[in-house]
Amino acid sequence: EKKAEGKSTWKSPSNIALVKYWGKKENQIPANPSISFTLEHCTTTTTLEYRLLDKKAKDFSFDLLFEGKEKESFKPKITTFLSRIEAYLPFLKDYHFKISTSNSFPHSSGIASSASGMSALALCLMDIEKELNSGMKEADYFRKASFLSRLGSGSACRSIYGGLVTWGQHPRIPNSSDLYGLPYSYDLHPVFRNYQDTILLVHKGEKTVSSTAGHNLMHGHWFANSRFEQANANLSRLQEVFKTGDLDSFITIVESEALTLHAMMMSSEPYFILMKPNTLHIIERIWAFRKEQGVPVCFTLDAGANVHLLFPESEKEAVDQFVQNELVAFCQKGQYICDQIGMGPKNG
Ligand code: PMV
Repeated sequence: EKKAEGKSTWKSPSNIALVKYWGKKENQIPANPSISFTLEHCTTTTTLEYRLLDKKAKDFSFDLLFEGKEKESFKPKITTFLSRIEAYLPFLKDYHFKISTSNSFPHSSGIASSASGMSALALCLMDIEKELNSGMKEADYFRKASFLSRLGSGSACRSIYGGLVTWGQHPRIPNSSDLYGLPYSYDLHPVFRNYQDTILLVHKGEKTVSSTAGHNLMHGHWFANSRFEQANANLSRLQEVFKTGDLDSFITIVESEALTLHAMMMSSEPYFILMKPNTLHIIERIWAFRKEQGVPVCFTLDAGANVHLLFPESEKEAVDQFVQNELVAFCQKGQYICDQIGMGPKNG
């Protein structure tokens, strides 16, 4: 029985990939498996209010408020998302929706909100599905939320769970799937507990090339097949590292993945560069600091200029000092965000 109206709120985090997803097939199927950790503080909070219509609408019917204001420019993305998931949530056109959403991180800081935003909305929509299907098990609820999130933004499917999350079929990860994320529930060395991510905001504003366009440039890319093989191998290597706590190998794999992601952009046709001069300055400082101080801190990059500093919780004081003394100078308006591995989305 459909309720005449209702409301659901989810706060869903962003995530940072260690092995990167870059390149996809039809229907948001990744060209290679990836693994990320879910963040704690960088989140999107979405409230979905729904009202049953007298009869099924012809088009999706929704209002969209971003940080309290109507946001027309976000609507096409939501419409695309809804049309991709309608086959799996056939009730969508039975309702009018009011979607109110806000981010914990500064607007247009260069932090991608697609993972947190799409996963938050998918979870809210799943609450309607749960009402209609009250016998649904919790595991099925989250798996489907991840499946739907993937259709909004590939990397969003990993934001449905806390801790480390894989996405994409991998021979050494049982039950791994191209269709949804899977919590990585193996032996984890304690050094990875509460792993830290300090996000240095190097460049705000719009990216010159969207990730959709970037993924597409992997079709016919000179190095595509080797890259996809490398990602598979790096995921296997990381599995070992998670067990042993070998931070030297962790650093090598993670930094190589970040640079490879950008190398793919730089070697596609057309080629493009999303790093900025300050991105490189920061990387040089990190390498020097690590060599001089022996602190196991490394960087990773998303599809943008910002730098994520990854390090064990035990190094927090040393790294905070380093950031303030040396790296803040390269951040736009001195902005950075201290985050860490998080527990996953929260209801209400
Ligand atoms: O989820 P998308 O389509 O925005 O792609 C994101 C890809 C990277 O962030 C660059 C890597 C990743 O695995 O998150």
